[in-house]
Amino acid sequence: MIAPLLTSFSIGALNFPNRVVMAPMTRRRAAYGKLPTALMAQYYAQRASAGLIISESIEVDPLSGLQGPTRPGLFNEKQRDAWLLVTRAVHEAGGRIFAQLSHMGRAAHASQLEPGGRVIAPSAIAASGQIYTAKGPVPYETPAELDTTDIATLVQQYALAAALAQEAEFDGVELHGANGYLIDQFLRDASNQRIDHYGGSAANRARFLLEIFDAVSQVWPRSQIGVRVSPTNTFQGMGDSDPVAHFTAIAQLLSARAPAYLHVVEPPVQPEGVPYVAGAIRANFTGPLILAGKFGLATGNAAIETGRADLVAFGESFLANPDLPQRFLSGAALNEPDKATFYTSGEAGYTDYPFAQG
Ligand SMILES: Cc1cc2nc3c(=O)[nH]c(=O)nc-3n(C[C@H](O)[C@H](O)[C@H](O)COP(=O)(O)O)c2cc1C
Repeated sequence: MIAPLLTSFSIGALNFPNRVVMAPMTRRRAAYGKLPTALMAQYYAQRASAGLIISESIEVDPLSGLQGPTRPGLFNEKQRDAWLLVTRAVHEAGGRIFAQLSHMGRAAHASQLEPGGRVIAPSAIAASGQIYTAKGPVPYETPAELDTTDIATLVQQYALAAALAQEAEFDGVELHGANGYLIDQFLRDASNQRIDHYGGSAANRARFLLEIFDAVSQVWPRSQIGVRVSPTNTFQGMGDSDPVAHFTAIAQLLSARAPAYLHVVEPPVQPEGVPYVAGAIRANFTGPLILAGKFGLATGNAAIETGRADLVAFGESFLANPDLPQRFLSGAALNEPDKATFYTSGEAGYTDYPFAQG
């Protein structure tokens, strides 16, 4: 019997030859100006056998929400044109790629922003931990609380990036609502204590995401807009008082909009005491569901077989194995990821992982 991960799947007009998704992964190899490069095109094209590639997080705001010069952007035409290198290389290699649109929000540092940029968030609550700057690691700053005019501008920035992504010939976009970045900062109540209609209830906290979704759906069919969330991730001081109830509500609101998919970062087995929110999301979201987080061949197949997911995204294992679906098919051993080169420059640990022989 063919492994569930290696069976085909379709979303709208897009046909995926397998259900092995390449998870979005920041690799910090863009050129000055936040421009994608030929090396990035090679890296993604090597991984074109994925059912779907989700790009590394791509910055949408030219002033705020940035982190370092080597994370790519999609807020001007030069960046759009440079992304064509990547999308065309992936398509020529037979693949499909979505652009992950993102904003760091409070997880940025003033020293890394453009003049006029600010560290911003739904509420003036600093992320916990430290951020790496040119002067070494420093504590996160307390962000400025966004006002509703700022929020409207941000929504338009996502819409512009989505339009540029379409011109750059991506197959769709993913709204990065996970891992403690701006949309996630709105979604969860440890970082969102607003008293206006962007805070309070789960529906209010989801308003920013839904406004972005609606603005982006002026540009893209809904079946080409995915959403990523991480309901129980505690990275950077994130938290939520009731993730099951809150993400049940968020899943229902998203379900009504029929996005391409909902992408949930949650491992197959949660640490003790942490609820399995993906189950509640599955029960309350009618569209395709992607799960990500520490999955392997066996747990990925099981997730699909038992109906817990439609597709499974692989991060570190796809980073280290450009031919991951083929290795899953043949049973070939996997290359080990080299963490030391996750965020360095050049080919080492990027485009030089070997393909399996034969
Ligand atoms: C080097 C690296 C960079 C990452 N960058 C992003 C990112 O840009 N956006 C995002 O949503 N997740 C990012 N992640 C998280 C992955 O998408 C994925 O959820 C995580 O690695 C867990 O999956 P895994 O155990 O299969 O690696 C990153 C992970 C790694 C290892």
